[in-house]
Amino acid sequence: MADLELFIRPRKADSEVPFRLDRIRRIYDRVALVYPLSTLLFHAAAHRRAVALSGIRDGMLVLEAATGSGEMFRRLVRANPGGTTLGFDLSPNMAARTQRRVRREFPAARTLCPAGDARRIPFRSESFDAVVCCYLLELLPAEDILATLGEFHRVLRRHGRLTLVAISQNRHGFNRIYRVLGRLAPSFWGRQVDGRLTASLQATGFLILTEEYVRQGLYPSRILVAEKGRHGH
Ligand SMILES: C[S@@+](CC[C@H](N)C(=O)[O-])C[C@H]1O[C@@H](n2cnc3c(N)ncnc32)[C@H](O)[C@@H]1O
Repeated sequence: MADLELFIRPRKADSEVPFRLDRIRRIYDRVALVYPLSTLLFHAAAHRRAVALSGIRDGMLVLEAATGSGEMFRRLVRANPGGTTLGFDLSPNMAARTQRRVRREFPAARTLCPAGDARRIPFRSESFDAVVCCYLLELLPAEDILATLGEFHRVLRRHGRLTLVAISQNRHGFNRIYRVLGRLAPSFWGRQVDGRLTASLQATGFLILTEEYVRQGLYPSRILVAEKGRHGH
């Protein structure tokens, strides 16, 4: 779909990408084939609820940041069959898998999913009605969380909505397990960041509209829907 290329911003040189990010990219590249199973076991319930809360309607221009292997992306296309759904992921294998599966399942839908970094979103400013991002912020260094939320703010149209899903920190036992996992494989698990989300969203110029907690087995998630307000970046 050549006309969708219009949305793409020129990319910066790879030498500017720090080493840690490179490790994250390599790990997610390696697990891309089996990642749908992890999504099914841990993320599916929150994904389903997040789509319902997001306010996404058919005909919108929607962006998903960090698509992983594309399970949420396909839900978004299903909710927006006559609109345009774009996505990106740091891992080229994840992005390619997302693109392949969505083209196979929804050949007539307007979709595009290149590789890209959420800290410098590869799409133009004020383009999107809705941005969705699930379980990415856990993997970003503290200083990049605000920068990334700022990027979501930049690419949204005025009054556009951000739907953010993060691992919730409201289960102490789970938090302890997560800390151990994070120490064993930091580039895969990252660490929980739920506690700073409200303040970070407000600092970036978002107005929080809705929040909800979802549990799938032991795995707790928090869904936040926020609107791009008049103030901010
Ligand atoms: C925990 S997985 C979540 C995948 C998917 N969003 C989901 O809900 O199942 C995190 C994803 O973020 C991607 N990622 C990590 N850092 C990124 C960055 N800076 N920009 C874009 N994607 C990134 C990884 O490649 C991986 O696919």
